[in-house]
Amino acid sequence: MRLAGRFANIRSSESMQAIANEFISEELRGRFHEAKNVLVLTGAGVSAESGVPTFRGGGNTAVWKGMPFEVISSAGMLAHDLPAVWEWFNYRRGLLEQLKPNPAHVAIARWQDRFENFALVTQNIDGLHQAAGARNVIELHGSIWRARCFDCGARREVRELQFGDGVPECFHCEGRLRPDVVLFGEMLPTGAYENAAIRAGNCELCFVVGTSAVVYPAALIPEVARAAGAYVVEVNPERTPVSGLCDEVLTGKAGEILPLLCQKPDRWGGQRSLRSA
Ligand code: APR
Repeated sequence: MRLAGRFANIRSSESMQAIANEFISEELRGRFHEAKNVLVLTGAGVSAESGVPTFRGGGNTAVWKGMPFEVISSAGMLAHDLPAVWEWFNYRRGLLEQLKPNPAHVAIARWQDRFENFALVTQNIDGLHQAAGARNVIELHGSIWRARCFDCGARREVRELQFGDGVPECFHCEGRLRPDVVLFGEMLPTGAYENAAIRAGNCELCFVVGTSAVVYPAALIPEVARAAGAYVVEVNPERTPVSGLCDEVLTGKAGEILPLLCQKPDRWGGQRSLRSA
């Protein structure tokens, strides 16, 4: 089902309700209403409406100073040009500083108090989920707002750091600090994927929001949830390699679609009664 263009017509909660009734299937409404164990996996697309450039999608890939982002964001680049890596992440952080969470982040943050057992797993390093009030976010790829020492492993908030010669120093051991972000060719933070996979294996409803699902092991999460019998729903303006395994694909922008799910169940136009019958 495609939402494109309808969202602009929403003038009131009534019209929001009408679009929700039309756009969100009865099956999904029922499951959303009844669910206790829910997992949401997000990617760069959930932050697109906040103005964060995605890495892929729309046929483009991000490039920095002529280098594809996979090169500048790699373990190889970290080894031979740490100042350049910091320059790239300082640039990305500079972009992020002005940006705010969008309705998708807000909707997801609300869900954590709605469901008994809620897990938010993100590939994003932008911190916008937390800025929207999300707690206990499983950050698979680290955070652009933290730095980590090569030598002692101490972590620091980047905002506290001085970038004298381009590479900040560890307060603890005077070692060199690096962005606390998972770069291409690097391992995920200890336990992050394992924790996410356990939650995916126990959820009954799994949302896959704004990811091109080409980067592993994150892209395995929907498969783990599906294999465990969860109802898997993708939210993306484009099809991805996991669209085929989803029970439902909601084609459109996360910031427009996710708030539709937050509509009051008792205003689901009487269909819910069918479900509980
Ligand atoms: N709402 C939902 N999805 C959107 C929106 C939107 N408003 N705008 C774009 N998208 C979708 C795109 O269609 C695309 O499928 O979001 C996806 C973004 O894909 P990527 O840029 O590849 O981002 P992601 O999947 O998070 O990348 C995974 O790769 O680059 C590394 O470490 C980086 O965490 C990142 C990982």
